[in-house]
Amino acid sequence: MSRKVFLNGDYLDENEAKISIFDRGVLFADSVYEVTAFIENKLIDFKPHIERLERSLKEINIEYNLDYDRFLEIHKNLIRFNNLENNEGLIYFQISRGNIDRDFLIKDQKIKPNVFSFTQKKSLTNDPKIEKGLHIISLEDLRWKRRDIKTTQLLYPSIAKTKAIRMGADDAWLLDENGMVTEGTSNNAYIISNDTVITRQLSNDILHGITRRTILQVSSDLKLKVEERPFDIEEAKNSQEAFITSASTLIAPVIKINDKVIGNGTIGPITKILRETYVKISIKNGI
Ligand code: PDD
Repeated sequence: MSRKVFLNGDYLDENEAKISIFDRGVLFADSVYEVTAFIENKLIDFKPHIERLERSLKEINIEYNLDYDRFLEIHKNLIRFNNLENNEGLIYFQISRGNIDRDFLIKDQKIKPNVFSFTQKKSLTNDPKIEKGLHIISLEDLRWKRRDIKTTQLLYPSIAKTKAIRMGADDAWLLDENGMVTEGTSNNAYIISNDTVITRQLSNDILHGITRRTILQVSSDLKLKVEERPFDIEEAKNSQEAFITSASTLIAPVIKINDKVIGNGTIGPITKILRETYVKISIKNGI
């Protein structure tokens, strides 16, 4: 059975949903997006995802009046129309500047944004691959310098992830010009040393992860020390534990970085409790 997707106000069969070749999202990646998890028919951290979408739109001056209730309704409808109430997965939501003849100049002329959304069924709380832990390799971060904006310019992250998989790993952590880890290809990166959770501070260098925000809150609630600062691969390789966070993995242990096994090569005790607590709290607070 094919999916029902949302496109510019209509719910359509996925094969019927078509975008113009003049869409600026298609031609220039002039579009922003969000990915929100759903578990047990609850949207996880929905409000901050919508707030970040609003911020991304503002940062690239796409004029769009984002209505929270309407967006919630679309997300809820997509879960319902695709019979996913008893499943887990992701809802992708994209807004582009709209259709206009190809021109590098972003004209003042008002055009209508293209808005679409679709579901992806995915096991989030019970994925054996995540439970086992991930092997990460390090690669150069060749992305643009406004990684805080969630745009659909995802070619480099996609190439980096593919390279990691082809090298027999699961994903890559990206390194800035000083050799410090920025983040993963589609997740935030963390290490634990001296029982302290360490992750890069917020700036234009990384996406301000919604899962990151909750995980840091959960860490504080669990009375763990948190340090927001950069770390390099050597420090990561010598850490006690390491993990990643994102809407699509929640919190996933990292058990190997390049050729170095972390801890005893399985999920570490702090990562385990963070994951269990995060899942519990997120479902409880989900809408
Ligand atoms: N990616 N950093 C990058 C570069 C990301 O693309 C993502 C999310 C994150 C984690 O953000 P959050 O916790 O808000 O999901 C960090 C999503 C899942 C994606 O592009 O599919």
